[in-house]
Amino acid sequence: MASGEMSESEFRTFLADTLGAAARCSRNGAVHFVCMDWRHMDSVSAVGSAAYGELLNLCIWNKSNAGMGSLYRSKHELVFVYRVGTAPHLNMVELGKHGRNRTNVWDYASVNSMRGSRREDLALHPTVKPTGLVADAIQDVTRRGDLVLDLFLGSGTTLMAAERTGRRFRGLDIDSAYVDVAIERWSARTGLEPRLEGAAS
Ligand SMILES: C[S@@+](CC[C@H](N)C(=O)[O-])C[C@H]1O[C@@H](n2cnc3c(N)ncnc32)[C@H](O)[C@@H]1O
Repeated sequence: MASGEMSESEFRTFLADTLGAAARCSRNGAVHFVCMDWRHMDSVSAVGSAAYGELLNLCIWNKSNAGMGSLYRSKHELVFVYRVGTAPHLNMVELGKHGRNRTNVWDYASVNSMRGSRREDLALHPTVKPTGLVADAIQDVTRRGDLVLDLFLGSGTTLMAAERTGRRFRGLDIDSAYVDVAIERWSARTGLEPRLEGAAS
């Protein structure tokens, strides 16, 4: 969202501030997934190599629908997979040892290519990701009960994925309307009532 309004150098500062803060509040060995359009891959690489201990992989979400593009229409999104700090990361794939067989190309239907209720998801947020994509990523590098953080909550796909996979979750968004959307989505899925523990002054 910010990339449309900022110069490239402002965007790098924004990335350094946000990814740096996320890295500092994560445990050593935590894994972060940074989703970005190919146009900004240089910025993510430059900031990511300073903020993180290691780039573990670069995954590609191969969408079912193409978006806009001048020469080639964009049909993929990059997912940079970083490890925080120097401690070993949890690997729940290990070449299929845990029953998971995963590659770095992730084929998931774009949310706007589906009929019915998933189409409604798009109305909530223009770039919403499939919950299955996020749930699989979470299961690759965490155990049940682990804590998942999303700094950019949006319509709450990561919250839904954490709920689905039995992980605890913390999220934030600069726009309180999206926090409401995410909580309503979670409430509709779980049937649980959200509880406000404190209000900003
Ligand atoms: C692309 S959406 C996130 C999608 C979400 N992770 C998902 O998968 O559903 C980006 C969100 O980041 C929020 N945002 C933008 N700048 C922010 C900032 N500086 N701090 C917190 N949230 C911000 C926007 O309000 C928007 O809801």
